[in-house]
Amino acid sequence: MSAATPPTERRVSARVAAISESATLAVDAKAKALKAAGRPVIGFGAGEPDFPTPGYIVDAAVEACREPRNHRYTPAGGLPELKAAIAAKTLRDSGYEIDASQVLVTNGGKQAIYEAFAAILDPGDEVIVPAPYWTTYPESIRLAGGVPVEVVADETTGYRVTLEQLEAARTERTKVLLFVSPSNPTGAVYPEAEAEAIGRWAVEHGLWVLTDEIYEHLVYGDATFTSLPAIVPELRDRCVVVNGVAKTYAMTGWRVGWVIGPKDVIKAATNLQSHATSNVGNVSQAAALAAVSGSLDAVAEMRTAFDRRRRTIVRMLNEIDGVFCPEPEGAFYAYPSVKELLGKELRGRRPADTVELAALILDEVEVAVVPGEAFGTPGYLRLSYALGDEDLIEGVGRLQKLLAEVKD
Ligand SMILES: Cc1ncc(COP(=O)(O)O)c(C=O)c1O
Repeated sequence: MSAATPPTERRVSARVAAISESATLAVDAKAKALKAAGRPVIGFGAGEPDFPTPGYIVDAAVEACREPRNHRYTPAGGLPELKAAIAAKTLRDSGYEIDASQVLVTNGGKQAIYEAFAAILDPGDEVIVPAPYWTTYPESIRLAGGVPVEVVADETTGYRVTLEQLEAARTERTKVLLFVSPSNPTGAVYPEAEAEAIGRWAVEHGLWVLTDEIYEHLVYGDATFTSLPAIVPELRDRCVVVNGVAKTYAMTGWRVGWVIGPKDVIKAATNLQSHATSNVGNVSQAAALAAVSGSLDAVAEMRTAFDRRRRTIVRMLNEIDGVFCPEPEGAFYAYPSVKELLGKELRGRRPADTVELAALILDEVEVAVVPGEAFGTPGYLRLSYALGDEDLIEGVGRLQKLLAEVKD
């Protein structure tokens, strides 16, 4: 008897089959594989700091490792002392006073986003998603049964959406506004007055806000970080904050993030996590505890390096004909428009979209960048500048030489 699949049987559920691979991780994996094969690839794909985790955080983890009680489960929602430290850190950094019972410790910011949407969305609920958006949000919303509704902002407004655009996207089914500042992939930072106006608009219409603050400490020049529930207290009962240690403390591999929200939402999300993954690794939680309760000196040092690289990459990208890169004010990404280059001849090919252009760039000069399609806006490339200064200059230098060959 053959074990062939009956023609009507669906092997992978429609819900999960509809999810696409994370484009940013795919680019990074391809670049890493080429590098492992000995190719001199320069990767602008991954959103991870190139610095090691600061020593005092690693020391705390090593110590925790030797302690047998840390070889056990913790409460599903996280170590009580870590939740208390996250509450204290939130007051210190955002001026937002919360209780430890409003915190759920998760396996990174990604799981925080997934669980937060799962806890507040019912099938058909709409979430307004400003685009360019980080590639994970729409998939997370869909997995939770929600419907992402994109509102696109381009380089002419510094990639910031306006209240008029948000109002035009609002329907009877709108439940949540997603607010991310500083933004991945654009590096846009909303000035306080704009953020406050958006928060007040959400309150006026009874909307929830999910705000992702993971880049809170990475702002440059005159830009400042604004936490929505801190400046619009009326929002607090319908506001969910996502954050984590990955970007601030160069801890992407430790997998610690958190959700802050009203107690009923946190309780529901904790119940969900208790069945999905139980708790975050005990040793990672100990490392996160050292991170959030320590000083911000290491972050300041990394910020100085990122700022230097930011200025270099923006200058070098804008030197290329057909490339326009507004100055990002936060995070560690440049998001240039390359629309003028599309459809033109380059080394015998005519890339019609940015997926094709990114593939050509990787093939021809071994530089990995992420196409704008991954962020809902074809016609752009995302370059992370969280890589060493020399690599950055070499990589953008290769791009400059290659793109100088573009012909009509
Ligand atoms: C905007 C944003 N939020 C959340 C995350 C998730 O970070 P992690 O899951 O590594 O904590 C990322 C990572 O790239 C991000 O860019």
